[in-house]
Formats: sequence, structure tokens, C-alpha cells
Amino acid sequence: MTLKKLVVGNWKMNGTKADLPDIAAISDIAAHSKADVAICLPATLIESASAFAPHIAIGAQDCHANPNGAHTGCLSAQMIAECGAKYVITGHSERRQDQGESNADVKAKTQAVITADMHAILCVGESEAQRDSGEAVDIVVTQLLDSLPDMISKDGVIASISVAYEPIWAIGTGRIPSLNDVAEMHLALREALIGRYGDIGKQINILYGGSMNGANASDLMAIPHVDGGLVGGASLSAEKFGPVIAAG
Ligand code: PGA
Repeated sequence: MTLKKLVVGNWKMNGTKADLPDIAAISDIAAHSKADVAICLPATLIESASAFAPHIAIGAQDCHANPNGAHTGCLSAQMIAECGAKYVITGHSERRQDQGESNADVKAKTQAVITADMHAILCVGESEAQRDSGEAVDIVVTQLLDSLPDMISKDGVIASISVAYEPIWAIGTGRIPSLNDVAEMHLALREALIGRYGDIGKQINILYGGSMNGANASDLMAIPHVDGGLVGGASLSAEKFGPVIAAG
């Protein structure tokens, strides 16, 4: 089955209101795209960007697992949804590393995103040492299985979730795995999703992330079970993101 591609920009801690015209330009490009397009922005921009960008979905990069409570500085999934977000990235390696998020934390956050009727983009990926040790596939599959929510349906409706495979050593480095290594990993992740959810696992987009850009996006997205991309640096302007969107 070929899934409709999903191309997601991850702006990380970049972007102010001065960038809204560029977000509007990305939206205009996406209006003519075959792929679904989203940008996950700093929370401060979600509401204003939603009004500026009718042809893309706006998302966040994290949320708290609880709906409310004494968690200074945190935002719940419901709060993010109220600002107009449709997507939330969970378990990005920068949060797993910098904020010490465990698979259990990521699982709880992913469930919170689904409960708030948004689309979770659950990230997994190996370190360079894990890749070099030859254990990357086993490690990443285990990470996925331990981070996936138990339930991906709500009120009988299949929830919206994607997985992003992002080798940590490829993020922001300009290096990517061989196309064969990407193919091997995505097939293993597909099998893991089917093992967990049955046929529903065939409908979950598996994105590749880590130094995807206009020059390599077509090759990466031609690989079986690469159903889109999660794009950092190359999503920060319409000029750079346009060719990635076009490849989707
Ligand atoms: P990059 O980041 O495209 O800049 O490598 C990807 C990501 O971290 O999601």
C-alpha cells in the first residue's frame, strides 16, 4: 500500500513573528503539493501561524502528558490544540537527551496528543555508537514498541499517529544513512507496527528525518515504507523547504 506522503517541518527553537510571511509562502507552495504538509513551530507562533497558513497544518514540538496541574512552564496537549495545532512531535531525540525523556514519558505524551484529537509524530532513532555496533535495528524497534501508546483509537475511531525514524547522528550534520540502511530500518518499523496494531499498522506513515533536504528528499522518499519526512534545517525557509515538499 502506498500512503499519501506527509512532509513535516520541525522549526525547533527558531522563528518569531517576523517569519510569518515565510510561513505563508510555505503554505502557498503546499497548496500545490501531492503530500500533506505541516510545520511544527515554537508554541509562541502556533496561533498566529494558523491564521497565516491555510494550506498547511501547524503543530507543536512537545506537550505535557497531563491535562493540567502544577507543572510550571509546561503546556498540555489541550492548550496546544486550543491554539490551533493539529500535530505534536513526541520523543524527539533532542528532548530525550536534553530533558531526559524516557520511552514511558514519550508513550504518555503520545497518548495525551491522541486524547486531545491531534496527530502525534513519535520520533525514534539510534546514536552513532549504536549504529556502529550493528544493533541499530533492534534498538530502534524496541524504542518504538516501548514508546507507542497501547490504544490508538478513540471512541472507535483510529487515531492519527505517525512515526519518524531519525538517526541521532544524522540530525543537523549533513550526513544520512545509506539508502539500504534506511530501507532496512523502515521495513523493520513497519513490521513492528503491524505486529502491534495488525492491519492498522499498514496505515501509519513512517517518516525519515535527519539532514533531509531538497537534494536527497526524492531518493529518500522513493524508498519503500518511507512515507514522508521530518525536516529541520531545510524547513526554515520557503526557498529550502519548497523542493522537499515537491519531492513528497
Ligand atoms: P535536520 O533535523 O533536518 O536539521 O537534520 C531534523 C530533526 O531533528 O527533526
